[in-house]
Amino acid sequence: LDHFVSVEDLTNDEVLQLIKRASQLKKGSVSPKANPNLYAVNLFFENSTRTHKSFEMAEKKLGIDIIDFEPSTSSIKKGESLYDTVLTMSAIGTDIAVIRDSKESFYTELINSPSINCSIINGGDGTGQHPSQCLLDLMTIYEEYGYFKGLKIAIVGDLKHSRVAKSNMHMLKRLGAEVLLSGPAEWMEETFDQYGQYVEMDDLVTQVDVIMLLRVQHERHQSTHASLIDTYLDKYGLNETREKKMKPTAILMHPAPVNRDVELQSSLVECDRSRIVTQMSNGVYARMAILEAIIAGRNKAG
Ligand code: CP
Repeated sequence: LDHFVSVEDLTNDEVLQLIKRASQLKKGSVSPKANPNLYAVNLFFENSTRTHKSFEMAEKKLGIDIIDFEPSTSSIKKGESLYDTVLTMSAIGTDIAVIRDSKESFYTELINSPSINCSIINGGDGTGQHPSQCLLDLMTIYEEYGYFKGLKIAIVGDLKHSRVAKSNMHMLKRLGAEVLLSGPAEWMEETFDQYGQYVEMDDLVTQVDVIMLLRVQHERHQSTHASLIDTYLDKYGLNETREKKMKPTAILMHPAPVNRDVELQSSLVECDRSRIVTQMSNGVYARMAILEAIIAGRNKAG
């Protein structure tokens, strides 16, 4: 790979190869750890714990040197643009830039610039895509079932503002899963109809093999939705009553951070069918597989 910016750019075979490599790495497959003279910078202009720190862990496990970058003490504070920041990182010899930014498709001008030699990894672009989260989610489902075709997978909640939902809807449908959607009507869009059917939460929980809950993205909302949040768990969330109606083998997922007792009853975060902690662990291996593919692409290009 030259860059990793959207799952839509990957073939199904490339996605499956990345999942399988991530699973091998999890089982202890030895990676060529030392990547001497390979430098990565993690540029996070939106808050992050999991994506930022698991990329950092993945880079360290692969022996990649990390160039520290703290937006609040950088020249971003003097008004320097993302483009000029990445141009600078490239000029000083950085090979890989992992970037999260609020601007949708921020990566387009970076990957098309003849002056920027860094490989770009999208750590989340506004409400656009979250491809590394998608890969770790797919890995988690594949570990459980070993296939995607015919699985009933629900994506529930704040679909409109969720980049995780956009990446997952696309890839799960493409891999042959039956996608079901649920959540408040104001957070649905007509364009989602191509990926899956809307089903009320009470009808949905009895049918699914996987339920993926989404975080209510307060920071992207115009108003506070206080009355919606007060009743959210009972109307649209997964509470203990609904969880008991799920198939014995069904799993629950959430990209986290979880708004406890909003999209998911707090007591269910670590319940037997929850794979939320597994998702966090898998994030390191999925990101190692992405980095390996990027390094292989750079080596091939010379
Ligand atoms: N799931 C996810 O992207 O979490 P962070 O925002 O903490 O990176």
